[in-house]
Amino acid sequence: MTNTQALKEKAAHYAVQQLVSGMVVGLGTGSTAECAIRLLAQQIRQGILTDIVGIPSSAAAAHLAHKEGIPLGTLTEYPEIDVTIDGLDEVDPQLNLIKGLGGALLREKIVATFSRRVIVIGEANKRVDRLGTRSPLPVEVIPMALWPITLYLQDLGITVVQRLAQDQKTPFVTDEGNNILDCYFANGIVDPYALELALRSRPGIVENGLFLGIASDVMLASELGVEHLRR
Ligand code: 5RP
Repeated sequence: MTNTQALKEKAAHYAVQQLVSGMVVGLGTGSTAECAIRLLAQQIRQGILTDIVGIPSSAAAAHLAHKEGIPLGTLTEYPEIDVTIDGLDEVDPQLNLIKGLGGALLREKIVATFSRRVIVIGEANKRVDRLGTRSPLPVEVIPMALWPITLYLQDLGITVVQRLAQDQKTPFVTDEGNNILDCYFANGIVDPYALELALRSRPGIVENGLFLGIASDVMLASELGVEHLRR
């Protein structure tokens, strides 16, 4: 196991310990959230956790959870989620996040928003002083609006790169059939709240990867252990 994988598993293990029987659990997307899904499934199989329902944040999370035997539900059946465990790409000192390098930001934000508690997990090197310095900010766009939105973002001083699929030729397509523009900032995101407002002001932008004021707990794993930051 690589060192990075060991850290992801350490953080996931710490987070899954927060769950109790009977909970509705939001299932995140990405390699760290996958560790949490597998650990949760293990605890269900061992009878340590019972009456758990998972609400997946992507087709990939749903597929894995189903394969691992976690009972799944929908937001129609369970409009309030007790705890969501998801990964992150960056976290700043205010516990604001960038998420969505896996392309699942829209459903992830929906699942997180309807959760009483949102636990995000990852390696300690995802901590930054300012968002947008380590990772691009993903912006999900309706395909017909890609070009005008690209121009709009460039006018804001952002370097815009359309995300490609694994073949590196065709556009990346999200679970909702949209595309992603990855936004790069020369000096990071100076005011994430102002940027979020600017992004919300343009129809065609469906969602963005800024998760502001959403995380309740951030669990960052390093060689020294897991640091648990609380809002
Ligand atoms: C997917 C996400 C992921 O949670 C985020 O990209 C972290 O992924 P990983 O755990 O693989 O580093 O937001 O849309």
